Amino acid sequence: EKGNFRHFMAKEMHEQPEVVAHTLGHYIDMANETVRLPEDLPFDFAKLNRMCIAACGTAYYAGLVARYWFEALARLPVEIDVASEFRYREAPLDPNGLMLVISQSGETADTLASLRYARDQGQSVLAVVNVPTSTIAREAHVALPTLAGPEIGVASTKAFTCQLATLAALAVAAGRARGVLSAAEEKRLVRALIELPRLMNEALKLGPTIEHLARSFTQTRDVLYLGRGTAYPLALEGALKLKEISYIHAEGYAAGELKHGPIALIDEKMPVVVIAPHDSVFDKTVSNMQEVAARGGRIILLTDEAGARRAALETEATLILPDADPLIAPLVYAIPVQLLAYHTAVHMGTDVDQPRNLAKSVTVE
Ligand code: F6R
Repeated sequence: EKGNFRHFMAKEMHEQPEVVAHTLGHYIDMANETVRLPEDLPFDFAKLNRMCIAACGTAYYAGLVARYWFEALARLPVEIDVASEFRYREAPLDPNGLMLVISQSGETADTLASLRYARDQGQSVLAVVNVPTSTIAREAHVALPTLAGPEIGVASTKAFTCQLATLAALAVAAGRARGVLSAAEEKRLVRALIELPRLMNEALKLGPTIEHLARSFTQTRDVLYLGRGTAYPLALEGALKLKEISYIHAEGYAAGELKHGPIALIDEKMPVVVIAPHDSVFDKTVSNMQEVAARGGRIILLTDEAGARRAALETEATLILPDADPLIAPLVYAIPVQLLAYHTAVHMGTDVDQPRNLAKSVTVE
């Protein structure tokens, strides 16, 4: 049931603070401020040489964010690919490796094939999956559930942020097990995770502002999304969400790649959405933004108070998100990115919950 919402997608976006809290509750010991994983894991994070991730679409972007976390917080080398490539690559797998697959439905054909490939090579396979009775949940050695509840809208929203919440907890646990994070650092990161639902609620309050802003998107043919670090996969996610429900062409790029080609596209007509929390790579992203501004580009900046002050740059719109620890920023910034796609699609009059040519679960390759 959609309740008071016009679309399932709107309902599911607004459920995110609650379902992310629920998912975190499953992986966090709130009293001790520690991460709590199943005890019978068939692998030991401390002994792993590397991790390999395969997934499709939005789940793949969750994996891309997780790569930054696992490498920085746990010093675990991560390789990641879309499942449709991974399954045919004949990738040699490290005997001390772990395979991670991520899927909302748990039925995606290419993701399942990647799981089976890794399992046949003797890898331990961990699945982060939303449907606990799915084939992927059953065939993995361990399935870590995301507790998003049923996702009806074809465009994934709450499943994505619940995947991120699960992966963030997992990365902190890995960091602890590998001796990279101290107990105090784990507590600090867990406290940041506990803050998430409140910050996601704050982000949702941007709805009316974004609804207004989205009107100008209906007149455009192309939109560019830029981000660095964990904001880069969010740029990819923003572009995917926009094209799949509004049918406007969009591209996500690593901000540093701008001058290697896409800058040729910049003119006064194309909106450039810059996702830039005030973090360690913020100044670099700002310099890319200046390159866009110098060519008359229309900049939509997603940042926080400190970022807005420091950027000191003329934009078409600046959306201010709450201050967030870098670990949780991707989940906070996912919200305006989803809202922008949603409101653009509503203005365009497309079928938001059932976009043309798309299926909720892709069980054929
Ligand atoms: C995008 C979207 C798709 C899915 C992809 C994987 O909004 O929903 O890109 O993320 O088809 O599906 P699952 O997660 O079910 O394996």
